[in-house]
Amino acid sequence: MLPGKDPPLTRQASRDNAARSPESLHSPAPRDAAIPSASTKSLRPREKLWDRWDKLHSRSRPPHSAEPGEQSAARGAPFIVSIINQKGGTGKTTTTINLSAALAYLGYRVLMVDLDPQGHTGIGIGVDPDSFIESMAEVMSIHRKSMSDIILPTYVSGLWLAPARIHLAHVAEQLYSRVFREAILHQALQSLPYDFIFIDCPPSLGVLTINALYASGFIITPCQMSRYSLEGLADLLLSVEMVKSLAPQELFKRNIFRILLTMFDKRNKVTNEYVLEEIRPYRDLTFKTIILRNEAINQAQIEQRAVFDFDPASTGAADYQQLAVEFLQLYHRLTGVPVADTVLQAPIV
Ligand SMILES: Nc1ncnc2c1ncn2[C@@H]1O[C@H](COP(=O)(O)OP(=O)(O)O)[C@@H](O)[C@H]1O
Ligand SMILES: [Mg+2]
Repeated sequence: MLPGKDPPLTRQASRDNAARSPESLHSPAPRDAAIPSASTKSLRPREKLWDRWDKLHSRSRPPHSAEPGEQSAARGAPFIVSIINQKGGTGKTTTTINLSAALAYLGYRVLMVDLDPQGHTGIGIGVDPDSFIESMAEVMSIHRKSMSDIILPTYVSGLWLAPARIHLAHVAEQLYSRVFREAILHQALQSLPYDFIFIDCPPSLGVLTINALYASGFIITPCQMSRYSLEGLADLLLSVEMVKSLAPQELFKRNIFRILLTMFDKRNKVTNEYVLEEIRPYRDLTFKTIILRNEAINQAQIEQRAVFDFDPASTGAADYQQLAVEFLQLYHRLTGVPVADTVLQAPIV
């Protein structure tokens, strides 16, 4: 979303979607029950942030709504999305957290799978690394656990996390000697009771990322507005093509790959022109929504919150809200699954 434009939906708070009927799972809440409202919260001075840091670590997790399995009968297979760029720092984790949280606030049941051994997805959504032992490493390893053994609730109602730990890196090394190693995650994600699963990938095109590609029906590649973040795009598209030829998903076609431009700063005119020119061949594969560089996004990460809960009036919140709407419109076009009229009719600017 470009500066000066209003977000497409109003942001009235509705934190509790536990009481929704199963039918409503594919029909997100109407305008007035969407993403948390603008509050009086404003950006805090740095020293106050540090004061709050201690509180964050002693805070207990808010009580959570119903288990995901309870309403699963009403839904089809989850729509699985990989967030991939082999470069670090392009906005993968930020996009995973904020797009997932936006969809959860719209009433969907969403699982984030952290496939990066750094475990940033969990940290970013306030899951204490000391609160779990088993993680994606155990799911991907030979003595594997099932996803339901490791999935944790988050403070956002309707949003769950399959966390990662650093030893996922060792497990990944061992995967190279396994047969069907690219399909391990695909098997693990079978029959899970969510509407959407977002896989936050590590910054490489290694075996973990190939597993994510194989498992997913849609790919989002966040590209930071800088020369180097585009350089790997050709390699990435090649990997997508290669995995596509192996993968079973009917949906897995090239046109369900989307680039997301992130950290856009309109003051950087020369860089912006360069990147937009480079991206021109892929313009039909690029989200119209552009994520502006916005300090609230950084600060929300420090507070281990989605940006909607840190500063709902920020451009970061508005941009990720619009991305959720554009994503849902595309999801509807690809799958035919109904979404709310307010979402379908919202302009993408
Ligand atoms: N739109 C944005 N505006 C400002 N900072 C951002 C934005 N998106 C991401 N960041 C910051 O950039 C850094 C890298 O983002 P991250 O999502 O962790 O990247 P990746 O997962 O691709 O390595 C983080 O510190 C994050 O807070
Ligand atoms: Mg990351």
